[in-house]
Amino acid sequence: VEHLSKWGGEKLNDSEHMLKPTWDPARSFQWHYHHGPLLDGMPHGELPQQPVTFLSWQLRLPLGVAAGPLANARFVAAYARLGYSLLTYKSVRSRAWEAHPAPILGLVRPDGRAGRSSATRYVVDGTASRLSPAELSSANSVGLPSPSPEEWRADVRRARESLGQGQVLIVSVVGTPEPGGSAEQLADDFARCARWAGEAGADIIEVNLSCPNVHDGRGDVYLDPSLSELVVSATRAAIGHVPLSAKLGYYADVALLRTVLAHIRPYVDALTLINAIKRPVIAADGHPYFPGAGRERAGIGGAAIRALALGNVRSAVTFLREQGSGIPVIAVGGVTAPGHVDEYLALGAAAVALGTSAIWQPFFSYDYARFQAEQIGAMRKK
Ligand SMILES: Cc1cc2nc3c(=O)[nH]c(=O)nc-3n(C[C@H](O)[C@H](O)[C@H](O)COP(=O)(O)O)c2cc1C
Repeated sequence: VEHLSKWGGEKLNDSEHMLKPTWDPARSFQWHYHHGPLLDGMPHGELPQQPVTFLSWQLRLPLGVAAGPLANARFVAAYARLGYSLLTYKSVRSRAWEAHPAPILGLVRPDGRAGRSSATRYVVDGTASRLSPAELSSANSVGLPSPSPEEWRADVRRARESLGQGQVLIVSVVGTPEPGGSAEQLADDFARCARWAGEAGADIIEVNLSCPNVHDGRGDVYLDPSLSELVVSATRAAIGHVPLSAKLGYYADVALLRTVLAHIRPYVDALTLINAIKRPVIAADGHPYFPGAGRERAGIGGAAIRALALGNVRSAVTFLREQGSGIPVIAVGGVTAPGHVDEYLALGAAAVALGTSAIWQPFFSYDYARFQAEQIGAMRKK
């Protein structure tokens, strides 16, 4: 817990928490890229197993790491050793792209002064590390950085080689709009990046549609049904037989979620939802926490978004069932305790992936496997 004390402001004793963050919120993305993850030791016991079918794979566990926590092949290899089955390589671009300066992460709690709404602000709070792991929420403002394509294409190959039986590499790609560029330019950029990811050995490609829309610069791509369709259809055409998933953000409007799904369903093999939700993030003094223009709002993940994510996953699963579609859904959002995984599976998600918890509770895979074993044990006794 040595690195925790650096940002928590004081030493915490082990009985207060079980957080073992693999990222140091005070350090830059570059530092993590070169030195991370901060992972000492391994949990005791057998590697967790609970086989499930996902597309053409037999996964070891219905649990994965969402796009973000795994910055490169070293991170992928480390989390593969922890037993996660879906390993998502952090979103990469068709050109090198700088990360935002540190800090890029923080544990947060909702600002008590406002109600919970889209106006809710979140306060970065050192004492949040004293919360029970189940109550974890985090803010991230990393800036969707990318190594150069030469670098990540070689690294994706290494990442793939580090996986074992029942483990799948998802590579997340994101398009980069040119200033004044067209929708076609953005779609082509996604497609090129996806093709490179496929050539480098990605088992599945995930297009991250939570990136700015080219036309109005206000909403994100996933909120625009036609643009989302353009991106997934161009990508589909570029990647041959490699399975394609689309990563969607949060929809306050379920009708819009259904419209987008209707547009993209013919082109995708899977869906991943949801991304972090953008909200204002402040320091204890009320000022924006992340330094620099355009960083007043940052991606909130963890407990704070769980109810919203569950709602969107439920809506997506319902829509797919109505359409008679067997497309699997990877549920992401607010999984901070083992029971949350089962809640998503019970809703009809095919697998579940972790953002915030992967960083702050990397041994969650073991916690989940133990929880499962206890549940099964309790059922046998009945
Ligand atoms: C540090 C960090 C970086 C992230 N980077 C990406 C990314 O590059 N691409 C992406 O699609 N999502 C990214 N995400 C979002 C996560 O994949 C996930 O959708 C979100 O955090 C919600 O899940 P959670 O509640 O488990 O945190 C990132 C999340 C975190 C915490």
